[in-house]
Amino acid sequence: MNNECPAVFNDQYTSSVGAIVRSQTDYFDDTVRQIIETSIIPRGEPFTVGDYGSHDGSSSKDILEHLLGNWRESPNHQKVFLSMCPTSFYEQCVPDNTFHVLLSFWSVHFLPSSVWYKDSLNTFPDGSRAECDAMAALACDGWQRFLLIRAKEIKSGGCMLLIVPAQDTDMTYGESRVHLQNLWVAMTTVWRLLRDLHQVTECEYEAANYPGYYRNEEELRAPFRDDASPVVKAGLRIRSLTLTHEKIHILKQRCKDIEQETEDMDDLESSVSKFVSAIRSWTEYMFMQALSSRSPDSRRDVVNTFYDLLVEHIKQQDISTCGWDNVIAYVVITKK
Ligand SMILES: C[S@@+](CC[C@H](N)C(=O)[O-])C[C@H]1O[C@@H](n2cnc3c(N)ncnc32)[C@H](O)[C@@H]1O
Repeated sequence: MNNECPAVFNDQYTSSVGAIVRSQTDYFDDTVRQIIETSIIPRGEPFTVGDYGSHDGSSSKDILEHLLGNWRESPNHQKVFLSMCPTSFYEQCVPDNTFHVLLSFWSVHFLPSSVWYKDSLNTFPDGSRAECDAMAALACDGWQRFLLIRAKEIKSGGCMLLIVPAQDTDMTYGESRVHLQNLWVAMTTVWRLLRDLHQVTECEYEAANYPGYYRNEEELRAPFRDDASPVVKAGLRIRSLTLTHEKIHILKQRCKDIEQETEDMDDLESSVSKFVSAIRSWTEYMFMQALSSRSPDSRRDVVNTFYDLLVEHIKQQDISTCGWDNVIAYVVITKK
């Protein structure tokens, strides 16, 4: 865990979103093979790997086993060290020149701070222009800060593999513009409903803010564009950056069922409930924090009501047509 992200990614996260992330790490198979085959590390020298924002390590387990196992066997490096840091990655976590390879999956979109949205949970659906600009500026600073610190920690010739929830602003890669845009619309609608029903106060309503930002390709590439940029001067380069649109597997089956017209209400109930419990695992802390002046029982009641209503709300949506894609950026960064 870290000082700046109060989220508790629990077992529910591990079995739902974590399983998706585990399969996404296959994307780096070729890069991992190249890292192993083109090793410049002299025999006998230790090989060091870091995993930042690792939660319980289960999402990166497969890629780490692959990397570490191959490293031990093929190039015969027996001294392999793995670090998962409990401190914030917006600070330097290890001494200079520590890592040959650094992983960070589904974490770098969390910022060290957030704006206070007046009438939205996130930049969308209803962040004001000023709020969205302020969040974009925080994301820009946060990205540069993250990269400059990593440039110190990664050895020359080393690399960083990132999986980052993103947005496809120009729809270059697919049909929906933003990661889970519809989810944020749905959550904001239900949170507003609780305010309008006087189950949460106006102040509690405003206090729920998501400290994450989905960068677009331009924003991800920005620190690397100019030779004079501090990130380029620090030796970092993008080796590859690809955005993909990925269907959320829990709902994918549901969409298929609709196409085949074989749906039944039990399937709908269970697929949407599973989806909402996965979402709950990484959004609940936001509401718990907004309700922090209440007793634990009262907080729990409101939050349970919120997610029950969210299930009902999503069941009313036509999920087959409204682009609930994850937009994911796979990024490989090298250090000269
Ligand atoms: C969505 S989980 C990703 C977990 C795992 N890497 C995966 O891909 O399934 C985000 C993780 O990032 C961590 N995190 C968020 N902000 C962080 C920060 N500033 N420093 C370190 N970890 C952070 C959270 O605590 C959490 O473990």
